[in-house]
Amino acid sequence: MATDFTEQNAADAVAESFAETPDPRLKEILTSMVRHLHGFVREVEPTLAEWQYAIDYLTAVGQKCDDKRQEFILLSDVLGVSMLVETINARRSAAATDSTVLGPFHVVESPARELGESIDQIGGGPPCVVTGRVLSVDGTPLPGARLDVWQANDQGFYDVQQPDVQPIGNGRGLFTAAAEGRFWFRTVLPSYYPIPTDGPVGTLLNSTRRHPYRPAHIHFIVGADGYTPVTTHIFVSDSPYIETDAVFAVKKSLIEEFREIDDPDEAAKYGVTSPFRLANFDITLEPASSEE
Ligand code: BEZ
Ligand code: FE
Repeated sequence: MATDFTEQNAADAVAESFAETPDPRLKEILTSMVRHLHGFVREVEPTLAEWQYAIDYLTAVGQKCDDKRQEFILLSDVLGVSMLVETINARRSAAATDSTVLGPFHVVESPARELGESIDQIGGGPPCVVTGRVLSVDGTPLPGARLDVWQANDQGFYDVQQPDVQPIGNGRGLFTAAAEGRFWFRTVLPSYYPIPTDGPVGTLLNSTRRHPYRPAHIHFIVGADGYTPVTTHIFVSDSPYIETDAVFAVKKSLIEEFREIDDPDEAAKYGVTSPFRLANFDITLEPASSEE
């Protein structure tokens, strides 16, 4: 005789429906998802109108997506899920540089640049120099390491957000570390900026009285042969929102002081005007074999 579907047995009934799933990982994921989803519904007891609102909301999230805009990723970002997935998948030794979210503004091929070159092609913002070394976790320097760098300008916009204002490639560069793993480049001090709020994610932030801002940062993807690459940021320590990043991506180890240097001789060494900001960011990579 058929068993009635009840509040108590509903999750078991659906979980059992996956019994014949040939892929064990798919079975595990679907079963867990259904159990958590049912648990959530039993706890919250949504009205039919609230459930319809949730369906309409997720429909709007999907409808906001196109080949340039990914509202689902943004939703995952503001719910802290992107950072949770990133953190789970980047369990490394304490000595390795912490990772953080990639974000939507990475481009597949940034312009290759010489060390010391400026990634800023416009000027006008506070001059800034970033220096550092790429090292193995045991301290061995990694000359030849590759650094993919990108940032918003001093107004808080990426080149791809302002195609009529910024040349494509502005604020971006691919660098190769020199002897002793050293790298250095010129730029402008990046600004904090809001994530896009003209879609359903903006509605969520508004309804919960949350601000949409990310503290000022520079993105890095750093790799070297035989090492696990790291996707990370360097955060400007005195930036607004450093304590309340809208996407929860700040880690203390990634906050660096961008020191103001008012010294024309120092400025001349780097080919910038005085005063300028100077930040140092050493990046440590873990050998790829230690994860296998
Ligand atoms: C970014 O840092 O580029 C970013 C990360 C998550 C959401 C939006 C922007
Ligand atoms: Fe960013």
